[in-house]
Amino acid sequence: MNTPLVQIKNLKKYFSYTGQMLRAVDNVSFDIFPQETLGLVGESGCGKTALARTLTRLHEPTSGAILFKGENILHFHGKAIKSLRRDMQYIFQDPYASLNPRMTAGEIIAEPLNIHKVSNKPDREKRVQQLLELVGLRPEYINRFPHEFSGGQRQRIGIARALALNPRFIVCDEPIAALDVCIQAQIVNLLKHLQEELGLTYLFISHDLAMVKYLSTRVAVMYLGHLMELAPSHDLYESPLHPYTQGLFSAIPIPDPHVEKKRKRILITGEVPSPINPPKGCVFCTRCPKVQKICFEKRPKLREIAPGRQAACHLVNP
Ligand SMILES: Nc1ncnc2c1ncn2[C@@H]1O[C@H](COP(=O)(O)OP(=O)(O)OP(=O)(O)O)[C@@H](O)[C@H]1O
Ligand SMILES: [Mg+2]
Repeated sequence: MNTPLVQIKNLKKYFSYTGQMLRAVDNVSFDIFPQETLGLVGESGCGKTALARTLTRLHEPTSGAILFKGENILHFHGKAIKSLRRDMQYIFQDPYASLNPRMTAGEIIAEPLNIHKVSNKPDREKRVQQLLELVGLRPEYINRFPHEFSGGQRQRIGIARALALNPRFIVCDEPIAALDVCIQAQIVNLLKHLQEELGLTYLFISHDLAMVKYLSTRVAVMYLGHLMELAPSHDLYESPLHPYTQGLFSAIPIPDPHVEKKRKRILITGEVPSPINPPKGCVFCTRCPKVQKICFEKRPKLREIAPGRQAACHLVNP
């Protein structure tokens, strides 16, 4: 494969929570390649948003390294951070909350252009028109306010705003979770189309495993702040290696009857432990149906099991 666009190395994000350390992201490493979509999945609270916000420098990391186009962006300040903001954008879950209700669609989309002082006013207006068109909104919508749009249209405004500065990399953090089911496919198809047209690279976070499969080149699975498995999308859904992934995916139906027949249902019981006090060995040991003695004692490292396939489990063999 080619050179990664984003590389994160041993990234940690700990929050101080009522005087204790909450390990939201703990020693996570992976690469994202140009023009791929890396899907990120895992149960609520496992650290997906904390990871995404840390890697785009919306949160300060506790430790580790984040390389963007080969440069460690943790050393960036002032101007360099500002130019990084042009390259890395974030699309939020809730288009209602992330759009200023007192600004028109045109003003919202133009805001990044104004902040970064891109070109002159007439050119900016042209650019806003172009962006509206790109995300499938009519040019006459430019003077409408957020409340005059539907949820899907609002998310299109959020996407247009994210695209304004021609970013290379976009984090889509549950971009469809707040939308009606029939609108979700439209937004996902728009993201896919924009990626092809503009050569974008995505980190796509979602609870919708079918949507993640449809959109992602590779998928990373997180549990309690740790990466459990990372693999090409097709391999991961067809034959997940990690017991946690097997459990997470066994709940979704697979349209292929051959695969469906061979599959074993794996039920994960019990509660997710607290990220303030995670298990000493494998973080999944308290719920793993295949747990062994070693799992309580030693934390497994994420390692390559087959070409392009990584898992953090003592019991998975090449
Ligand atoms: N600002 C914060 N201060 C303290 N703890 C936080 C903060 N933000 C997140 N956390 C904690 O970090 C952990 C990871 O949260 P995060 O929001 O990243 O999960 P998530 O995987 O995005 O969940 P969801 O799927 O529900 O969006 C949780 O235990 C959460 O309570
Ligand atoms: Mg989240």
